[in-house]
Amino acid sequence: MRKHGTEIVAVALLFASAVAATQFVKKSAAQESKPAPTVDSRDSKAQERRKQELSKFMREKLEASSDVLEGLATEDFKLIASGAKRMQRLSAAEKWQVSNDASYRQFSNQFRRIMEQLETKANEKKLEGAALTWIEGTMTCIECHKWVRNTIIAEK
Ligand code: HEC
Repeated sequence: MRKHGTEIVAVALLFASAVAATQFVKKSAAQESKPAPTVDSRDSKAQERRKQELSKFMREKLEASSDVLEGLATEDFKLIASGAKRMQRLSAAEKWQVSNDASYRQFSNQFRRIMEQLETKANEKKLEGAALTWIEGTMTCIECHKWVRNTIIAEK
């Protein structure tokens, strides 16, 4: 009975984080549709290109997340492990380091550590442990984004 309880909570949390991620995407799409103030058209073009590259790079996390979720749902431990590995690689890339702020670095380190744990749980074939670690991971997505919205984007 208790075991079932944690499963239900885990599923509910996974669902909640999926909803939160979707809202974040919608919100950033809305922000993008605002016309950017143009000072010099060449500068803003380069800036726009960088923004799009960053966006593409950041969206890779969504693909990796859906691999992890699929892996959890179908008990495919290889898929969970490869999604976790991909997120470790993304978080170590230069493009990821959009801020030198201590908080951002802390979120990044936390995220990478959780993705390492997730890979370990998947390799040990521990489904519930992997599910709970994934929930922790999605909380970090949400917390880091919240920080980014309130500091980096607000400064732009
Ligand atoms: C350490 C901070 C951090 C963590 C953790 C993090 N992200 Fe992000 N994410 C960012 C930053 C920075 C951006 C770019 C924000 C901007 O300037 O538009 C971003 C953007 C995104 C975008 C929007 C891309 C676009 O422009 O369309 C998605 C989707 C996204 N992240 C998904 C995720 C998911 C899913 C997770 C968790 C599995 C996650 N992120 C974890 C920092 C983070």
